[in-house]
Amino acid sequence: MAIRATTDVGDAVAALRDGGLVALPTETVYGLAGDARNQPAVARIFAAKGRPLTHPVIVHLPDADVLDRWAAFVPPWAQLLADAFWPGPLTLIVPRAPGVLDTVTGGQPTVGLRVPAHPLALEVLRAFGDGLAAPSANRYGRVSPTTVEHVLAELGDVLEDDRDVVLDGGRCGVGVESTIIGAWDDTPRLLRAGAVTAEQVIELTGRDVSRVDGGVRAPGTTAAHYAPAARVMCVEVDALSATVGTLAGRVGLIALSTVPLPDFEHVRLATPADADEYAFALYAALRAADDAGLDVVIAVLPPDSGVGHAVRDRVQRAATAGVRA
Ligand code: TXA
Ligand code: MG
Repeated sequence: MAIRATTDVGDAVAALRDGGLVALPTETVYGLAGDARNQPAVARIFAAKGRPLTHPVIVHLPDADVLDRWAAFVPPWAQLLADAFWPGPLTLIVPRAPGVLDTVTGGQPTVGLRVPAHPLALEVLRAFGDGLAAPSANRYGRVSPTTVEHVLAELGDVLEDDRDVVLDGGRCGVGVESTIIGAWDDTPRLLRAGAVTAEQVIELTGRDVSRVDGGVRAPGTTAAHYAPAARVMCVEVDALSATVGTLAGRVGLIALSTVPLPDFEHVRLATPADADEYAFALYAALRAADDAGLDVVIAVLPPDSGVGHAVRDRVQRAATAGVRA
């Protein structure tokens, strides 16, 4: 049976209480949520995604007041970040409280926590009243979904339990996954770039940020991730002319509207005006390239500031993956 789509929060909460899974919108990307205290529900999230069991998932909270049910300890500088950015696109990796499932943490002594800023996600979380485990609602290693249609394309065939539902909240506003900050000692560690920037973390905490994006702790940070089937080539604006001369096959282009274009045959996949629009458009554009059967996607990198840093990171990962999947 195909998964049910709903816009009814009560329906979604009932599904979660019943041990079902709910694909739900957040401000970053869609997540595949289950009761984070329910071992079989969490196990089904991993099975649906085809995700290795050692990779931890983020627990989404209704608000920061329930932090101490999940965290053994929150460094004061990390509490400042929670106060400033929650609800919002920031995940804190903190020492876990007793009783947090090993399946959630991948057996690590830490747990990832965030309060998402999407009104529907918050309604669900507040009605549910506690933590929901929710990785992005894509098959393992694929691009995160930013619309209900993407979720159905990823998981429609896999979520076949009668309890499961997809909550339709329209298109996600940010478009790339949350910033992940390691917060288990005195040093903020940037584990994954997102809409909350390292500069904002430095300004708020008064601490240097250790940039370990690309570190081994998080699968979202492995190189061969966020990949479409088309070959992705990322280029700086200056290198565009030289690159287009070397191409064969059907070519798609993602570039800021301000980038001057050489003369070459291509399908324009997105024309964002700035880095925020680039983040919003990126994953949908990569999917559109696959839907159109393009061979190559040229992604002209935006400047490395604000969410532009996260966009560059995701585009470079998609390019590194490099092979047709
Ligand atoms: O924006 C987001 O963060 C989205 C939405 C749905 O909230 N979620 C998301 O989840 O991107 P996921 O599972 O696709 O990526 C979560 C990342 C993974 O790279 C995971 O390894 C890391 O968070 N993570 C979670 N718990 C961790 C922990 N205890 N230690 C290290 N990394 C952790
Ligand atoms: Mg993911």
